[in-house]
Amino acid sequence: MTANGELRSAQWFGATGRTGMAHRSWMRSEGFTPEVFDGRPVIGIATTWSELAPCNVHLQRVAESVKRGVWQEGGFPLEFPAMALGETLLRPTAMLYRNLLAMEAEELMRANPLDGVVLLSGCDKTTPGLLMAAASVDLPAVMVTGGPMLNGKYRGTDVGSGTAVWRFEEDLVAGRMTQEECVFAEGCMARSNGHCMTMGTASTMASMAEALGMQLPYSATWPAVDARRYETAQRAGQVIVGLVRQELRPSAIMTRAAFENAIRVNAAIGGSTNAVIHLLAIAGRLGVPLSLDDFDVLARDVPTLVNLQPNGQYLMEDFCYAGGLPAVMRELAESGLLNAGAITVTGSGIGANVADAPCWNREVIKTMAEPFQPAGTGTAVLRGNLAPGGAVIKQSASSAHLLKHRGQALVFDSPADYYAVSNDPELDVDEDTVLVIRYCGPRGYPGMPEVSNVALPRKLLLRGVRDMVRICDGRMSGTAYGTVVLHVAPEAAAGGPLALVRTGDWITLDVPDRTLTLEVSAEELAERQAAWTPPAPHASRGWTRLYCERVLQADSGADLDFLVGASGHEVPRESH
Ligand code: FES
Repeated sequence: MTANGELRSAQWFGATGRTGMAHRSWMRSEGFTPEVFDGRPVIGIATTWSELAPCNVHLQRVAESVKRGVWQEGGFPLEFPAMALGETLLRPTAMLYRNLLAMEAEELMRANPLDGVVLLSGCDKTTPGLLMAAASVDLPAVMVTGGPMLNGKYRGTDVGSGTAVWRFEEDLVAGRMTQEECVFAEGCMARSNGHCMTMGTASTMASMAEALGMQLPYSATWPAVDARRYETAQRAGQVIVGLVRQELRPSAIMTRAAFENAIRVNAAIGGSTNAVIHLLAIAGRLGVPLSLDDFDVLARDVPTLVNLQPNGQYLMEDFCYAGGLPAVMRELAESGLLNAGAITVTGSGIGANVADAPCWNREVIKTMAEPFQPAGTGTAVLRGNLAPGGAVIKQSASSAHLLKHRGQALVFDSPADYYAVSNDPELDVDEDTVLVIRYCGPRGYPGMPEVSNVALPRKLLLRGVRDMVRICDGRMSGTAYGTVVLHVAPEAAAGGPLALVRTGDWITLDVPDRTLTLEVSAEELAERQAAWTPPAPHASRGWTRLYCERVLQADSGADLDFLVGASGHEVPRESH
């Protein structure tokens, strides 16, 4: 609503004279009847559909279901495209463009005659990108994620998209699989519409949207091809019209209490480390105080309840049939680990939404009394002279015997440098070596790609070694596993201590103690710092230049510094 109590869309469609005529007339070229301009809420449907983003390719059909619900409730739906970010194709990384999607969608929402928005996302960056945009505009908003693919099926076994890729590659390198078998397996992993069906970043962020209260219960888990996904989308269309009438905005839903819920839910589902960066960025748009340490402190009491790949056995389709996210949140609520009063898009508190949620399969969704993994095995935040701004490690994806480890560094300035020698039988490496892969942060790569969990050196794989400590300023796919210290801040390209490590230096990782230590004296580090020169810029123009000049470090969510905060939804002045 504007200050005089009318819908903001009325400033376009309710205007008289030439201005109103222009706004209405060109819309009527789409075949709408004049009644749609009678003052009803105009609902934008931001869709990240694209054939270049396979995880989101069905969102046009989801949008049709949303439209049904909007019409049903007396609103006027208008679908518009927002930048589609496909994780698998975009180079150097979809993360380079998350903030661009957020900026584009924010501006489109504000500049158009919209009273509320439905956000259609799926692949990893599309969910946080649209939530960041909605947070900054603060128009009533509901998210509908596109849902996971059906379980992958390969030779009689379930295989998880993403997670299986890492294992198949290792099997190929070690000679346990042929190239032909790998090509066959490609088709088995991704056999329906939808995003990755492990508890990777897409499933995690869909769950975060539900835990934050921004999407309807069960939205995160219905498979993409399940009729109930479309039913939920239609319901979301009805709900957004009500939210506009109630003026219930993202800033009233995504409160500190909601973020605390999301962090605890992330621990309970064994979610991706990428949630740390994305939640920090969303909170930054809203001015909600949230720090890296909150993720460690709030998650310490939360066991992992969900037995899903990459940490466990099952996949999102199984999670759905077992009861989905509401069954997990009910467990947390009954243990006092959910801020039950946090309001959601249903208009009710999240506790009320999940109070009666059933669980149908205790193999998939465990109880607090008998969890899948004990409390304290989630994402840990590390600090020390190697990561003064912090770093994270996903304990549940790590090898227990490596969580306390001392080894000598083997340093590479890029993943490419490492892979150029990783198959060399003469490479001076053993299972105690600490692989340091740097210049992979927001500025360094650029875009902070998911390259941190580099494959192990071939000579170790052939000896049966399946894990070793790796340290990187980049990210790791939520579908991946391994003892990998991620998001080291400040990154090497920003002059962080990671840039000063030399091959042969001793490094101590102590996850129980939450420390990451480079065993080099402060004097020696000061000398190395004085001799360090920053890398040449990646670009002299365009988005990449803007991004590299203004991106924040991982511990601040890697948003652009000038996008932190909100610009609201004030109606801009006339265009003609
Ligand atoms: Fe899109 Fe995994 S590649 S969700």
